[in-house]
Amino acid sequence: MATWSAPGKVFLFGEHAVVFGKSGLAMAIKPRVYVTVRKVRNPAKVNSPYIEGCFEELGVTGSVYIHSQLPSSSGLGSSAAVTVATLCAINDEFGLGLTRSDIASTAFNIEKKVQKGRASPTDTFVSTYGGLVLIKDGKRRRLPPENFNIVIGNTMVSHKTSELVAMVGEFRANNPLVVDPILDAIEAVTSRSMHNFQNLKLLGRYMDINNALLEALGVGHPALSRLITASRAAGAYGAKITGAGGGGCMIALCPKRSKSKVAGAIEAAEGKAIITTMDTEGARKEEDNGNNGSNGRSDYIKTGR
Ligand code: PMV
Repeated sequence: MATWSAPGKVFLFGEHAVVFGKSGLAMAIKPRVYVTVRKVRNPAKVNSPYIEGCFEELGVTGSVYIHSQLPSSSGLGSSAAVTVATLCAINDEFGLGLTRSDIASTAFNIEKKVQKGRASPTDTFVSTYGGLVLIKDGKRRRLPPENFNIVIGNTMVSHKTSELVAMVGEFRANNPLVVDPILDAIEAVTSRSMHNFQNLKLLGRYMDINNALLEALGVGHPALSRLITASRAAGAYGAKITGAGGGGCMIALCPKRSKSKVAGAIEAAEGKAIITTMDTEGARKEEDNGNNGSNGRSDYIKTGR
């Protein structure tokens, strides 16, 4: 039996712009997905295409137990975390000798297959390696860690990343003179933010600007605006949509002392708040102590194959 976990992610800056080759900044977050894999002769059928994809890709069979601290379909990279943790657990249980880089690329290929061609290589990279990740010229590299206090607000409004990406693509194709300067401005905000990690007030202001630019691209939503406005009023340095928008999640960069107040304001505005900071580990092995590495929480989803 092998148990591994992998973290979720947020985009601090640059979502949508990265689809057009601009730079962006993503960060692994503390909530994780825990996966236990066990060699068994006759595994039950699995009920997740991501997990099925992992076993198919690696050519073995086994049973799987999952515990997730990440809400699904909310832009926090839960499918990437499930895929990465499952691949790591299979790799360990069957002694396949895959490297971290193999795991990241195999996870991306599985996500692409399941999501019919469109997947974010950022999600699988960040979940595998953890930390702060710069996306530049189509490549991803880790930056030194930063201690950002982030509150995530989940609108619980479902969205489809593929539809939002297609919508922005179409908008740009028909209005390049209008949309290209917006994408350039998003990239400028990303690159200035990297030189100002210690100036949280300015970073917050850049987040607000990035949010306005995302709204200009048409990926805002009234529920996101409500949570963003509430966070700012409760003392956040700044707040923005994170991920594809049109629902899903927002993030607020907060002074340490204001985290709870911002989380309370998000909940009062009908969102679900998660207080978090950066995860620096990425995928990691958990002790096989019978509680799936998740501190004894018992809400596992049992799947198998
Ligand atoms: O909603 P998410 O977290 O899957 O974010 C998508 C981010 C985009 O930039 C819109 C797409 C991408 O592949 O980077």
